[in-house]
Amino acid sequence: MIKAVKFDKELARIYDETRPIDSEGCCECFRDALQGINGKKDARIVDVGCGTGRILECLVAGLVRKEQVVGIDVSSAILEVARSKSSLRGVEFHDISVVDFAKSASNQQMFDVVICHWLFHCLPDWKKVFRACVDLAKPNGVLAWLEEEGDLYRVLDGMDASNAPLVRLFEAYYESVNKELHAHGSEKIAPSVRAGTMVRCTDDLANELNALGWNVQTQFKTHRWTRQVTVGWIFESIFERRVFTNLRRIPPGINLRAITKLKQRLGKGRLPKASDIVELKFWAKAVTAISSSKPMGEHLQHQTKNQVVQTTVGDV
Ligand SMILES: C[S@@+](CC[C@H](N)C(=O)[O-])C[C@H]1O[C@@H](n2cnc3c(N)ncnc32)[C@H](O)[C@@H]1O
Repeated sequence: MIKAVKFDKELARIYDETRPIDSEGCCECFRDALQGINGKKDARIVDVGCGTGRILECLVAGLVRKEQVVGIDVSSAILEVARSKSSLRGVEFHDISVVDFAKSASNQQMFDVVICHWLFHCLPDWKKVFRACVDLAKPNGVLAWLEEEGDLYRVLDGMDASNAPLVRLFEAYYESVNKELHAHGSEKIAPSVRAGTMVRCTDDLANELNALGWNVQTQFKTHRWTRQVTVGWIFESIFERRVFTNLRRIPPGINLRAITKLKQRLGKGRLPKASDIVELKFWAKAVTAISSSKPMGEHLQHQTKNQVVQTTVGDV
């Protein structure tokens, strides 16, 4: 059984607010995936790791009947938020890991479109989850994903130092948190929680599909957008509220002390001021990919042909 990230009650409550996305841009990519099923009355869609249902919210309107849409998530706390949204009335939600959901013959190869938004990056064992998602797709179905590959994550992974104010800010944040953790006898956190074990980018997902016998073609469609925020916003929205990492929760008291100390240093040395504006860059790429020559996934018996839409997006 996959050890999934638990999106507990506290995080579920502030999730939409503290993890902003450009819904329009994201939905634009997923709409490409949904195009093929427009007008098909019996088409079925599943959003795997649907969270608070925010992607479904912008997709279901007008495209398909809500009864044809299923959202699954391993966290019942986050599904409570999705279920409470009136815009999603009629959508079927299941509290279950996709790995278990895909074990049932009644779910295998049942969906015309399988959607995954920000799912794989937060899972140490993303390959199993990815295979389960593949198993849900009907022959000639679509697997569509958007994964995190934004500047901010590159910065955190030490991959891209082009956005200097952000680099300085995040380095200083980690330094401050680690000093506090050290003072309390706790283990330090690494600048990247994802390095090594997690899916790093779209290429990893494409390689995995190839390993499953799929022929992934690379015809990228790219959407780009940027968002300007102040350094103060990063403190309020990311450092203070998000409690930074998904997998390693920094105790709130330690986090607060670390950011209070960091705030006092703003505008000094190499650090930007709270009122300074930084630009977050986002992008989303979509590629329509093609057929499999081997059986897909662990549970399937026969050969299938599938269409894949693969996307990737930057995120804060
Ligand atoms: C980063 S959140 C993204 C939520 C949502 N897709 C969005 O974009 O707002 C990842 C979600 O995947 C869920 N998840 C993680 N592992 C899962 C699994 N094995 N099966 C189903 N859901 C899972 C988590 O509970 C969480 O809600």
